[in-house]
Amino acid sequence: MMTPLGVAVPMLYTIPLFLTWARPGERSSTLMGGSAIFLTLVGVVFSPGEVSEIVFVERAMASTLHFVVTWLLIVQKRSTRKVKAAQQAMHDSEERLRLFIEHAPVALAMFDRGMRYLAVSRRWITDYGLSESDVIGHSHYEIFPEIPKRWKAIHQRGLAGDIVREEEDRFQRADGADRWLFWEVRPWKTAEGRVGGIVIFTEDITERKKVEQELRNHQTQLEDLTGKLLTAQEEERKRIARDLHDDFTQQLAALTIDLQRQAQVASESGMPPASHLVQMGKKTEQLTTDLQRMAHRLHSSLLEHVGLEAAFRECVEELSARTGLTTELVIRELPRGISLGQATCLYRVLQESLQNVTKHAKAANILVRLQPSRNGVELSIQDDGLGFNQSGEATQPRGLGLTSMAERVKTLHGTFRIESTVGFGTEIYAWIPLSEVKSDH
Ligand SMILES: Nc1ncnc2c1ncn2[C@@H]1O[C@H](COP(=O)(O)OP(=O)(O)O)[C@@H](O)[C@H]1O
Ligand SMILES: [Mg+2]
Repeated sequence: MMTPLGVAVPMLYTIPLFLTWARPGERSSTLMGGSAIFLTLVGVVFSPGEVSEIVFVERAMASTLHFVVTWLLIVQKRSTRKVKAAQQAMHDSEERLRLFIEHAPVALAMFDRGMRYLAVSRRWITDYGLSESDVIGHSHYEIFPEIPKRWKAIHQRGLAGDIVREEEDRFQRADGADRWLFWEVRPWKTAEGRVGGIVIFTEDITERKKVEQELRNHQTQLEDLTGKLLTAQEEERKRIARDLHDDFTQQLAALTIDLQRQAQVASESGMPPASHLVQMGKKTEQLTTDLQRMAHRLHSSLLEHVGLEAAFRECVEELSARTGLTTELVIRELPRGISLGQATCLYRVLQESLQNVTKHAKAANILVRLQPSRNGVELSIQDDGLGFNQSGEATQPRGLGLTSMAERVKTLHGTFRIESTVGFGTEIYAWIPLSEVKSDH
């Protein structure tokens, strides 16, 4: 052992030991272990003179020691590698999470139990005019001292493990700007399953709110305008009807009387009245009746004078007399308190529907029903005519008649429905409430 060779041989073992340490791995360590044995054998074979038993045992022990040391080194290297891999995986996952949070298109922030910022998305930073270094590690309440109490209460609920969703909320920013927010609070859990803090997601919906409000305003304006248009139309009809009645029919009546008087004079003077004079008299009389009827249709003074029921009867009877259609009219006892506006609406729906039946339906029978229903009055006009397809309703604009019926009913907060099947006829249904529903805008 003390010979130069005796020192050199154990020193040779350091070579495989060093290589095993430098290049860890099962294959390389087996290789190194193998070469160590080989070197031992070489040492034994080439030792000068007889190899004493002591030397042999000493070398065998050195070999065993070498194996033990190599094995320990391998175990240590392996566990270091595992720790490194775990650290790498954790780093990767943290990096993914950071990227995800940072670039999420919503404003989101992650807090610990003390409401200190752990991570924030860029949207959060820009929405609140902050910088990332301002927030990470700082308390939310320190950054937003003006935060309402109700929000703090919601954070507490989140920290207690609840998921809290709030549809929308108004919030005044530090710069005084009034904003609308949609937000959600969710707890996040630690590996032990305890709540580690919360994540808050917020979305600034101020612009959407603005658009919605504008849309509502437009809708109200449109409804207002439609109501005004319908009233103006009624007024205009009334004026034309009055002119027709007071002016034209009066003049025509005077003309009829003149013609009749002329015929009388002619017959008194012994001359037979000219036949064309008699004809003219008859035509003028007919014209007067037609004009009166037209004036009546334009503005049914009947409604004001005799009421809804009588006006309905007159209208339906006039239709069957004019067209020869079989009509049936069912009127159940109507509640009191139908205003003139409501009566006019029902009457106009009836008129337009009957006109449509004569114009488009080629029907043989018409059934009209007017009856009380659910705190209101319902009207239905059914025919057994051609019917029509309304599947394209949304894309194809309806005719003016159907649209104005629907609008009239809508202005009175009622319901309007058309049920039509090609080949089986049409039903127009309208219901209007009698106790005026208060509109909420
Ligand atoms: N009772 C009905 N039977 C068959 N088709 C109808 C009936 N009522 C309406 N229609 C169809 O609906 C269309 C729209 O009707 P409307 O709005 O009153 O406009 P208009 O009568 O001026 O054509 C009509 O052109 C017709 O094709
Ligand atoms: Mg029509």
